[in-house]
Amino acid sequence: MKKVTLKKSGLTFTRVGLGTNSIGGHNIYPNIDENVSKEIVKQYLKSGGTFIDTAYFYGLGRSEELIGEVLLSTNTNEDVIIATKASFVFEHDQVMHDNSPAFLIRSVKEALNRLQRDVIDVFYIHFPDENTPKEQAVSALEQLKQEGLIKAIAVSNFSLDQLKEANKDGLIDMVSDRYNLFMQNIDQDYIDYMLSNDIAFIPYSPLASGLLTGKYTLETQLSERQQKNPLFIKENYANNLKKIEVLRKLANRKDTDVSSIALAWLLSLEFVTAIIPGAKSPEQVLKNIACDDILLSDQEISLINETFNIKG
Ligand SMILES: NC(=O)c1ccc[n+]([C@@H]2O[C@H](COP(=O)([O-])OP(=O)(O)OC[C@H]3O[C@@H](n4cnc5c(N)ncnc54)[C@H](OP(=O)(O)O)[C@@H]3O)[C@@H](O)[C@H]2O)c1
Repeated sequence: MKKVTLKKSGLTFTRVGLGTNSIGGHNIYPNIDENVSKEIVKQYLKSGGTFIDTAYFYGLGRSEELIGEVLLSTNTNEDVIIATKASFVFEHDQVMHDNSPAFLIRSVKEALNRLQRDVIDVFYIHFPDENTPKEQAVSALEQLKQEGLIKAIAVSNFSLDQLKEANKDGLIDMVSDRYNLFMQNIDQDYIDYMLSNDIAFIPYSPLASGLLTGKYTLETQLSERQQKNPLFIKENYANNLKKIEVLRKLANRKDTDVSSIALAWLLSLEFVTAIIPGAKSPEQVLKNIACDDILLSDQEISLINETFNIKG
């Protein structure tokens, strides 16, 4: 599998990562089988993958625990770059975010325990909070970096202004936000800022939660969760499926799957460092990894951009 190296931290990992909000993510998806979760991680490692994206929020620590168990049992801790995140706090049935230095320091230490590791490669502030000056949050993480507990500092779901504030001293290594053919949460100004500041970008939900795999039709029985997703609601769904047919034609021509085309498109973007498709089975992991070998021509990229109304 092809690898990338981060400009600032020098961390090296495969550009096809593994998203793990379904690994032990009982609070996100119903009926998660933890044995399947472990098999998914094992399949990814067996295929040569070395970049795993997790978070405290995924199963409230359970994703980190399961990943830690698999890495220990397969003796792969040395080879794998782990990115994890924190900010979620739950108080009186309310979901909030905390970026305070005390919270972040505690979160890193607790994540290290759950992962059974001495160091976290990439630590993200999962979501911004309203109160903590970003500079203060980042200097707490820089302190943890100096102590050898984390190797790179990242933020996720930050606006451009919040990112600029957080990166005032040039300490941000990586950013993650939703970015796929249907939904782009960041604009060209954001992209230019990341490129000119050597900040890596990891688009999340690269398959638009499965829609970009081409497995959905007008007849598909949608889950409750999907029925609330703007991409699947009536006004948009049929039109979105038509766009996917353009990807299917390309996929057929290249003897691959719709998902590989959608993921290869992301990998073709200059500002995308690596991708983290999620999976619910080891078979899906194998299918997603296949995008690593797909090269899209300029003409194919233009057709995709036109279809999805992306400014190329
Ligand atoms: N930083 C953040 O705030 C944030 C937010 C969201 C996600 N993330 C990260 O990004 C990762 C990816 O996002 P995501 O999991 O939400 O969405 P995604 O990668 O766009 O979609 C993953 C889902 O699509 C389906 N799927 C995947 N591969 C498939 C294949 N080859 N064939 C058929 N179906 C397939 C699976 O669900 P079904 O089988 O149920 O259809 C899978 O759970 C997460 O796991 C997480 O690590 C980060």
